[in-house]
Amino acid sequence: MKGLLAALARRYGTPLYVYDAAVVRDRYRALQGAFTRPALVCYALKANSSRAVASVLAREGAGADIVSGGELGRALRAGFRPSRVVFSGVGKTEAEMTAGLRAGVKAFNVESSEELDALARVAGRLGKRAPVSIRLNPDINAKTHPHITTGRAENKFGVETGEALALYRRAAQDRRLRVTGLQCHIGSQITSLTPYARAAAAVARLAASLKAQGIPLDFADVGGGLGITYKDERPLDPRALVKTLEAAFAGQPELELLVEPGRYLVADAGLLLTAVLYRKRTSKRRFVIVDAAMTDLPRPALYDAWHPVMVVAPRKGKKTMADVVGPVCESGDFLARQRPLPPLERGDLLAVLKAGAYGFAMSSQYNSRPRAAEVLVDGGKSRLARRRETYRDLTRGEL
Ligand code: LLP
Repeated sequence: MKGLLAALARRYGTPLYVYDAAVVRDRYRALQGAFTRPALVCYALKANSSRAVASVLAREGAGADIVSGGELGRALRAGFRPSRVVFSGVGKTEAEMTAGLRAGVKAFNVESSEELDALARVAGRLGKRAPVSIRLNPDINAKTHPHITTGRAENKFGVETGEALALYRRAAQDRRLRVTGLQCHIGSQITSLTPYARAAAAVARLAASLKAQGIPLDFADVGGGLGITYKDERPLDPRALVKTLEAAFAGQPELELLVEPGRYLVADAGLLLTAVLYRKRTSKRRFVIVDAAMTDLPRPALYDAWHPVMVVAPRKGKKTMADVVGPVCESGDFLARQRPLPPLERGDLLAVLKAGAYGFAMSSQYNSRPRAAEVLVDGGKSRLARRRETYRDLTRGEL
């Protein structure tokens, strides 16, 4: 591991994202393999839409959960079958709906009455029937970070039960639409089964009531959100989760079950490799200034997220507390704070772990920093998955 990381840094430079395909495959197989009835794991591409990573899952036969026309294009290029792609998102444009319909996606997860109208219009124009699944907002607290809680009535996502029923009745009577599923997603980095059990129960109740009203569904989609261990969180066991879901839908064996995990599949598969530029001390702090920044991994700055930091080849000596910070001109630009780190020299390599989800995908060019390169390691071989951006990339498109 140590030798490989040092070799990759020499070859491709830093900052560098490194992904391990085997971890992605293991995660996918553990979840998909836990189901004892027809089920589809739809990878939420937003977590990491790099083609190299996404195509590992496409080759496994996974489905995809997308939220934009850009992700639709990426999903298709990565090799996901359109019939396994669900199109989520609270603000799909008509152009995006058109692209989704033309591609033949499995369903549009519709989040408002006006969106349903727009989808019907687009389908009518194309002479197609749009597959519809309504996103339910069950008003359940997933007990996660407020920025990534999505299933409460004060969140912008989904529609409440009464409105969902009304939308289904309308969709069932509209020849431009085809009712196919029901979806819900209550948040991200969820580490307790209870909110899932409650969300699944709400979805199962509504699905049963729709069936009783003559509106049978093909699938029930309980969203993503499976938490992982960054520090000391106890992760959700995929088998326990699946057991809970299957129990909630035991009375409706005809329903295909969908889940839309992003983080769970890819977070542990990726790390951000960065080199020490400078060291400095103030009267209060030891700073390690590295060449990666909040632009490469914004999670610590955005959510105060904690990622493990590993020194690739630790030197002997006493560990002392240090802040690992980047070159961006903001005090919020840190990757880790107050970590016990051994003595470091300029050029030493650090690896920020569990960076495979919402890392590169959320990176930016703020401070006119070209984005990092990405490497995929698979079966002892590594290959460049995305080249480092150049200064020319920064101004491409500017007139
Ligand atoms: N499905 C829908 C409709 C979603 O909104 C999301 C995530 C997922 C699936 C996948 O959730 P996951 O399994 O990855 O938790 N940038 C934040 C996370 C934002 C998640 C937004 N929605 C972070 O870095 O923690």
